[in-house]
Amino acid sequence: MNLLMKKIKEDGEVLSDSVLKVDSFLNHQIDPELMSEIGKEFARRFQDEGITKILTIESSGIAPSVMTGLQLNVPVIFARKRKSLTLINELYSSTVYSFTKQESNEISVSKKFINDDDCVLIIDDFLANGQAAIGLAEIVKKSKAKIAGIGIVIEKGFQEGGKNLREQGFRVESLARISSLNNGEVSFY
Ligand code: G4P
Ligand code: NA
Ligand code: NA
Repeated sequence: MNLLMKKIKEDGEVLSDSVLKVDSFLNHQIDPELMSEIGKEFARRFQDEGITKILTIESSGIAPSVMTGLQLNVPVIFARKRKSLTLINELYSSTVYSFTKQESNEISVSKKFINDDDCVLIIDDFLANGQAAIGLAEIVKKSKAKIAGIGIVIEKGFQEGGKNLREQGFRVESLARISSLNNGEVSFY
């Protein structure tokens, strides 16, 4: 997606050989026009999959997910990282380990929002090691709904997540695939 790659080139900050900062349009300040185009592109790629729900994780997955939900005319659910007040047996949960932060987080979704007849599109802002996407997929599996695929705004292809998810048979669609962040420079495949 050329518009997104242009934005990453112009406004992304390479913090190290493995971390890209995009807080001017995705992770802190949000560019609504770009999010709208991202929503259209995810919708175009997954339009024939019979999607009934979009599932993401708070917080940065919400903006691109809502724009996609608007296009596909389906509800958007975000998994919560903090324990909600809801009784635990009313939740689907999974544990997500972050290599970046070296900590585990329980994520959860209320059982009332995903059913076994749903077809779910998982969306997230970044794909690094893939732990968040795996945790979301686990939640969908527990609900016995179908997983249509995984939509990612920015995939760091030099990390293992994308490879692992594709090997597990998931359809992974990344709008920007970064091959390297070496020498302060963003390169795409
Ligand atoms: P993983 O899910 O692919 O295994 O990723 P990891 O645990 O390494 O990532 C932890 C958090 O950092 C996630 O956000 C993820 O989206 C984000 N992240 C990973 N690599 C990068 C990067 O190069 N740049 C930026 N900007 N973010 C990255 P989170 O903690 O869930 O936060 P948020 O959704 O509230 O923003
Ligand atoms: Na995220
Ligand atoms: Na993030």
